[in-house]
Amino acid sequence: MKTPAPRTRAELIATAFEAIAGPALLLDEHLEVRLATPAATALLGVVPRVGLSAPALLCGDRPKRPIAEALAAGRPIQALIPRPEQGEAGELVLVRSLPLRHGRKKIGWVLLLSASPSGASEPELFHGLWSADLQMKRLFRVIEKVARDESPVLVRGETGAGKELVARALHDASHRAAGPFRAINCAALPSTLLESELFGHAKGAFTGAVKDTPGHIQLAHGGTLFLDEVAEVPLELQAKLLRVLETRQVLPVGGREPIPVDVRIVSATHRSLREAVEAGRFRGDLMYRLRVIPLFLPPLRERPNDVALLTEHLLSELGARERSGRQVRQVQAVSPAALAALERHPWPGNVRELRNALAYAVAIGDGPILELADLPPEIADPELGPFIDMSAAASRPAQPSAPTARPARPLAAPEPAASLAALSRRIEAALAAEGGHRARAAARLGMSRITLWRKLKELGLG
Ligand SMILES: Nc1ncnc2c1ncn2[C@@H]1O[C@H](COP(=O)(O)OP(=O)(O)OP(=O)(O)O)[C@@H](O)[C@H]1O
Ligand SMILES: [Mg+2]
Repeated sequence: MKTPAPRTRAELIATAFEAIAGPALLLDEHLEVRLATPAATALLGVVPRVGLSAPALLCGDRPKRPIAEALAAGRPIQALIPRPEQGEAGELVLVRSLPLRHGRKKIGWVLLLSASPSGASEPELFHGLWSADLQMKRLFRVIEKVARDESPVLVRGETGAGKELVARALHDASHRAAGPFRAINCAALPSTLLESELFGHAKGAFTGAVKDTPGHIQLAHGGTLFLDEVAEVPLELQAKLLRVLETRQVLPVGGREPIPVDVRIVSATHRSLREAVEAGRFRGDLMYRLRVIPLFLPPLRERPNDVALLTEHLLSELGARERSGRQVRQVQAVSPAALAALERHPWPGNVRELRNALAYAVAIGDGPILELADLPPEIADPELGPFIDMSAAASRPAQPSAPTARPARPLAAPEPAASLAALSRRIEAALAAEGGHRARAAARLGMSRITLWRKLKELGLG
């Protein structure tokens, strides 16, 4: 049967929307579905009828307020879509909302849907690495398995994503845990210095070499050697490194006798070694020796649940530090607007950048609530994306929520009392959403169980 060509402007726009938006829903100002693309119908496994409330569609019978709030804040949310053929388990769908405005008035939303690449789950601490992301948890299980092996591991991941922590985890989970862990950054040293640092040198090898000095390879004997930024090892040292891997012996600079070594090599790179090989900057034979077990560490922006979780842990770490004997500001909670900004930021510097942003926020602001205005401007800047300050909006429920421009900090920051009220509302909403289950409510809020317990006490709710 031939589909008739669109006749009206509205039909034409709807057809274009379906063509470019992929799985998407168009909602009106009451959060009711006005249009669902065929791809959205396929993803959800149901035909969302026009007029259906989006929170009801996304939450089924569960409490809908957190989802409605997240929609209003324009935050990405993980929604569990009930699909009949999936039974109780359902399927995780990632929802991103884009508020539509006509002047200052919010007239609706576009919800972009995608099958979640890695669903939310209970937070886990694995050898210093925190994560609630399924992709990361799969990585933890792989690390446990390959830690027992002796083969060289190559960790690929963006800067600040935790490659060194992964290397340490591999060491700590191995039978070499009692042995040394030596890390060397191959990008940080000029070639001759790197050679001497890696392989060691014999007395008299060069001016200033007054005694035999072991290098990192020898010092890692019985343990693990971590070669950070391995792609930066100069070509002239690559052959020498390859020989160590092949012979399990190291020859110090100016030395005559090779020294047997028993080390496990873990290396890391933020860029593709294969591309370095293709560009002639890296030896192919060395690449194959180093990447017997390749591990990929996903960037923070691909682990949406980890931002809130890491924020919580990094803040308690920062709070535990004492500066010149004076206690550092103790942040007890993050305002919803600040959390939304953190979750929206793409984090090119990953966890390290998040840690730095939080250290900045702790230093710049006061009081127990970390506010949007405390964050570095490039993260807090509302011009970079549309969202509503829910902490301000929540304290004035009768008002239509207006976008926060960038007022001066004292105006933007709600009174501590208002923030605490917003915090207790968030906690109550999370507890309601999880049927009173505190551990799950804590995970939903991105805080530890102990912190939730403490906050309930402080707010007089526990
Ligand atoms: N999952 C995590 N849980 C807790 N802390 C983390 C996690 N991932 C990274 N960090 C922290 O983030 C910072 C950066 O991690 P790390 O040094 O391991 O990154 P990297 O990938 O080696 O970075 P670079 O490429 O710049 O060397 C460290 O302070 C580390 O403790
Ligand atoms: Mg590193």
